[in-house]
Amino acid sequence: MAVVSGEALENLATENRLFPPSESFARQANAQPAMYEEAAADREAFWARQASELQWSQPWTNVLDWTDAPVSKWFVGGKLNVSVNCVDRHVAAGIGDRVAIYFEGEPGDTQTITYKDLLDSVSQAANALTELNVRPGDRVAIYMPLIPEAIIAMLACARIGAAHSVVFGGFSAEALRSRIEDAAASLVITADGGFRKGNMFGLKSAVDEAVKDTPTVKNVLVVRRTGQDVAWNSGLDIWWHDIVGKQSTTHAPESFDSEHPLFILYTSGTTGKPKGILHTTGGYLTQAAYTHKNVFDLKPETDVYWCTADVGWITGHSYVTYGPLANGATQVIYEGTPDTPHQGRWWEIIAKYGVTILYTAPTAIRTFMKWGDHLPQAHDLLSLRLLGSVGEPINPEAWMWYREVIGGNNCPIVDTWWQTETGSIMISPLPGVTATKPGSAMGPIPGISAEIFDDAGKPVGLGSGGYLVLTQPWPGMLRGIWGDMDRYRENYWSRFKNTYFAGDGAKWDTDGAIWLLGRVDDVMNISGHRISTTEVESALVSHPTVAEAAVVGASDDTTGQGIVAFVILRAGSVDGPGVAQELRAHVAKEIGAIARPRQILIVAELPKTRSGKIMRRLLRDVAENRTLGDVTTLADPTIMNLISSGLSNSSSDDD
Ligand code: WT7
Repeated sequence: MAVVSGEALENLATENRLFPPSESFARQANAQPAMYEEAAADREAFWARQASELQWSQPWTNVLDWTDAPVSKWFVGGKLNVSVNCVDRHVAAGIGDRVAIYFEGEPGDTQTITYKDLLDSVSQAANALTELNVRPGDRVAIYMPLIPEAIIAMLACARIGAAHSVVFGGFSAEALRSRIEDAAASLVITADGGFRKGNMFGLKSAVDEAVKDTPTVKNVLVVRRTGQDVAWNSGLDIWWHDIVGKQSTTHAPESFDSEHPLFILYTSGTTGKPKGILHTTGGYLTQAAYTHKNVFDLKPETDVYWCTADVGWITGHSYVTYGPLANGATQVIYEGTPDTPHQGRWWEIIAKYGVTILYTAPTAIRTFMKWGDHLPQAHDLLSLRLLGSVGEPINPEAWMWYREVIGGNNCPIVDTWWQTETGSIMISPLPGVTATKPGSAMGPIPGISAEIFDDAGKPVGLGSGGYLVLTQPWPGMLRGIWGDMDRYRENYWSRFKNTYFAGDGAKWDTDGAIWLLGRVDDVMNISGHRISTTEVESALVSHPTVAEAAVVGASDDTTGQGIVAFVILRAGSVDGPGVAQELRAHVAKEIGAIARPRQILIVAELPKTRSGKIMRRLLRDVAENRTLGDVTTLADPTIMNLISSGLSNSSSDDD
């Protein structure tokens, strides 16, 4: 007799819970059921219709050129300027007075920036970049807090055809240095610092350290955000207010080829070296605008949209800067953390600005669940009409809480699956169209073709799981890895023939809904941020006391996964009270605070096969307090007992 496990029953329960769109939402929805058939009937014609909502200075001759697969060209021969699409055309259409950005600084300072204001600022910044000799095709590193100048800097780069490489402000000087070096950036745009958790943090000092060893950098442009003292290198450094402020607010934009590079964004792969994901112009903007309009049901005249991501991540590129601004949206950006000065800050912001659309990450939702319902309940959240989730699988409990406590049972939830590499949303319900299941991203949006393959590359069919793949090119897809096209082919296109392998496991339920199951490679997902085990391992072994390290992602109630490191010390180094602490700090310094291990366990041996391969599976069992799996292939099976017994007295803390 078959035994039904508790987990299977639970899945069955959630799979069967269905939330059909409300009639009132469906009636006004941007997305229409017919879009699925239209896209299926003629995918390229469908994408061409989406692209034609943008302003092109020269029309394309060919929608898709896939002859050089896996490098695609979209809207071949077309020309456009991204910043014109995000700013100028709205002003020209007479909506220059519409608010583009409500900025809320962490200390409580605010700015209201209209599209006309944005046009002036972007033009001035573009003129300043030109004065600093930045030319089309050059790379500019942006290392900033989430302040309006970060968005203005991105748009100014786009305007003059320079590719930006935004490096998250939480990354270390070393992470910044390696990204500047890989892209050979000629300019760094930064700030003295920013505000976080009630304190000032510094950015300029990290830039100073990074550019010591990056001869390609000719200038560092510095926004004064906090007023803190900064060291000044007069050969290199220029204040933003000195050079941008004096420029003309008029700038005649040039148009760029649809395949002109728009940006590089570094993301972790399975090796220690981050990959520079390259995105180009026409296809990227087309998909960012199309998804932003249809997945978030944006009504630019009335909505107030808030995506809580930082511009240091792809979500901030596509759903803070490019998608919303291309669509003429009014949006809120917030510099700080959700608990400053109190744990109700987000709900206060929603009530203050009348936010209608909220896009955030499961890790934040689970944190708010922990903090308690009374916090959101103390604020008027009735303006909300749609909720989005991104970055990692959202567990059904968090989904239900989001729906009930934040959305008042009255907002569709879109669980959106995509990646830095995909550029824009790929798998998501369409609000007003798709009946949703708590915890499922449902299905590919119109224009996108996804499948789930088994090991042999065959579709697994309903009710089964396997590898998530994308079977057709899409406009927002990456065009390669900066400086390493072999790695591009190898990484994404070699596992299955002519098919993009995303690195995620997924399953179809029996109704044909997709459930994401997390990464199947050595990539961890910490609070929706991607960090490779190898990256953390290299950081650990760069410390003089460490001989060997193995890192695993262990499930974590709040952050999705937490980093657990097993470390062998060098002969002569002794384990003591401060060692784990010091190593955690070392990783934070090498990579950034988001990579600081939750736990470090000093061990005498690591579990290895006879051929010397570390068996991470067993370490994950230990880190997640599970009964050990099969240990028979271990060279020395007894060492697992030693490791497991050590975990209970290891140290960890939150900071
Ligand atoms: C990885 C991509 C896309 C912007 C944020 C992260 C995971 C992302 C979901 C989701 C389950 C998700 C995947 C993916 N992921 N969204 N809705 N459900 N998993 O971008 O850093 O490029 O990471 O995030 O594992 O591969 P990223």
